[in-house]
Amino acid sequence: MKAGFYQFNPVFGNKKKNITSVANALKGIDVDLLVLPEFFATGYQFTSMEEVGYLAETIPDGETTEALASLSKKYGMYMVAGLAERFDKHYYNSAVLTGPEGFVGLYRKTHLFFEEKLWFTPGNTGFNVFQTGIGPVGIMICFDWLFPESMRTLALQGAQVIAHPANLVLPHCPSAMPIRCLENKVYAITANRTGREQRKEGSCLEFIGKSQIVAPDSTIIAKAPKKWTSLMIADLKIDTALNKSINQYNDLFKDRRPEMYQVLVEQETK
Ligand code: ACM
Repeated sequence: MKAGFYQFNPVFGNKKKNITSVANALKGIDVDLLVLPEFFATGYQFTSMEEVGYLAETIPDGETTEALASLSKKYGMYMVAGLAERFDKHYYNSAVLTGPEGFVGLYRKTHLFFEEKLWFTPGNTGFNVFQTGIGPVGIMICFDWLFPESMRTLALQGAQVIAHPANLVLPHCPSAMPIRCLENKVYAITANRTGREQRKEGSCLEFIGKSQIVAPDSTIIAKAPKKWTSLMIADLKIDTALNKSINQYNDLFKDRRPEMYQVLVEQETK
């Protein structure tokens, strides 16, 4: 599978420009799965509920999902991209999967970060694995990485590649993802953004770039710089993610002892 990310600097509120940037990046490339950043079409720093309401879209019939589906059809490839979703009376920080067949699936971010909690409802889709023509793809969004349960839940359901749209501002994710991949023996593609947003007094958000593709053995096989727009694609041997064996005695999944982890599924923490 040829898979990768498109890291760029979305302009807040300018969906047309941001979608065009993606469409231009796709010209002439050979890729089966491309991951785009979280909120790639709108930008990140919302400042009011009105703004969220104006920029959020229904899925799958909103303009952004339709644009992604049509690009996926045109180029015969899959894309995972983050966008602001409107559903009922709620707004979600969501990601869609589109493919040659059009819209394939939706994920709503489980663990909201910082001021996202002012605007968005915590996701209710759970972590689902999508069986695609190129293999089983799991989705999580940005801050979900800090909860090891996210990737574990996807890996236990058979995900071989984790698509990870992000808008990272803290520095830790790029160095943590190799361990997340090693502990689950899966590939992960983190598509972050570049640039800054300061749409209100005081809070300047500086995005850390450094999108990357990591292999099940923890090797970083592609890594973008902090500042520059980058399109990177690597050849993933996704069937290596089927092998959870460590040595003749140890298997990462068969050796699990869920009965020892009961506290993980309790509702209350001390
Ligand atoms: C984040 O979840 N956007 C840091």
